[in-house]
Amino acid sequence: MTTNQIRVRVAEVETVAAQIRRLKLVPIGMSGLPDFSGGAHTILSIPDGERTLRNPYSLMSSPYDTSSYEVSVLKAAESRGGSAFIHDKIREGLPITISAPVNLFPVDRRARRHILIAGGIGITPFMSIMRQLEHDDVPFELHYGMRSQERGAYWRQLRETYGHRVHIYFEDQGQTIPLKTLLDGQPLGTHVYVCGPSTMIDWVLNGARDAGWPAENVHYERFSAPPPGTSFTVELARSGKTVPVGPHQSMLEALEAAGIDAPYLCRGGACGQCETRIVSCAGAIQHNDHYLSDAEKAAGDKIMICVSRVDGSTVTLDL
Ligand SMILES: Cc1cc2nc3c(=O)[nH]c(=O)nc-3n(C[C@H](O)[C@H](O)[C@H](O)COP(=O)(O)OP(=O)(O)OC[C@H]3O[C@@H](n4cnc5c(N)ncnc54)[C@H](O)[C@@H]3O)c2cc1C
Ligand code: FES
Repeated sequence: MTTNQIRVRVAEVETVAAQIRRLKLVPIGMSGLPDFSGGAHTILSIPDGERTLRNPYSLMSSPYDTSSYEVSVLKAAESRGGSAFIHDKIREGLPITISAPVNLFPVDRRARRHILIAGGIGITPFMSIMRQLEHDDVPFELHYGMRSQERGAYWRQLRETYGHRVHIYFEDQGQTIPLKTLLDGQPLGTHVYVCGPSTMIDWVLNGARDAGWPAENVHYERFSAPPPGTSFTVELARSGKTVPVGPHQSMLEALEAAGIDAPYLCRGGACGQCETRIVSCAGAIQHNDHYLSDAEKAAGDKIMICVSRVDGSTVTLDL
């Protein structure tokens, strides 16, 4: 494993909204946890019998208090194990390991103003981002949409803390984020950030493009876990080993289960760390990442093993 692993204890478990749980994690054997900046995530490694569940979660606590970390987890409707375990089985006192924080969704420190757009559980990275922007005295506004009052987390607390800078929209009350108005007429140097369902992210990216925003002023983070597929086999060209991949398993998970370490940072198809060269492939490659360009995906000689898979019998990797 290439990431630094840190031992922590689950110190608090709290249901903060329908299907959303907050975990507070405190260090074991050290006085504090590593520094991080707003928007960073950590990967929780949770033992579940024979398996280890590893999922990325955004750090939502203050970057200025590293005596503990906090994450919030939505129970996925079709969980493969990770979020369901956190909701159904995790208890206060459980020791787990986490990775050192990595930030793939930082604020651009050159920006003069920040517009933050969150949908549902996509609020989590903005919780730490807002603490940082407040601390740095940089102007920002949050536009936070959720299905209903019951299903939205932290909106009361955010309103109390940040006042008029927080705008809340409840879908069941027919309220929607006024995207066009938001994107039109912003002063030069404004950056926009979005995290939420994929459809919301695409809506904001397309809206910003149509409104003429430069791509470098538009930032997003996708949480979505890719769909499962069919079983196939990974052959490792360098070691000659063969590893079976189940329909609900990623290649990275299958390699780890076979005792083979492969690099990763995000496990979500965003960072590029797990990029692996394909030597040969019997079948179609299903690229589920957001890292490779369309041309690179079409070339078919690289794959992100944390999220992408093969619809066929065998893939041979340069590992
Ligand atoms: C940077 C980042 C930050 C995130 N932050 C949050 C957050 O703050 N709160 C939150 O609720 N969620 C967050 N997520 C989403 C979270 O990591 C999980 O995806 C989510 O909890 C879904 O859980 P699950 O129960 O389906 O996970 P699991 O049941 O564990 O299933 C997801 C797992 O499936 C495996 N997999 C990946 N690709 C495939 C594939 N093609 N075929 C088969 N298996 C595959 C992966 O190992 C992945 O970990 C974040 C995701 C990312 C990338
Ligand atoms: S670990 Fe980040 S893209 Fe695979």
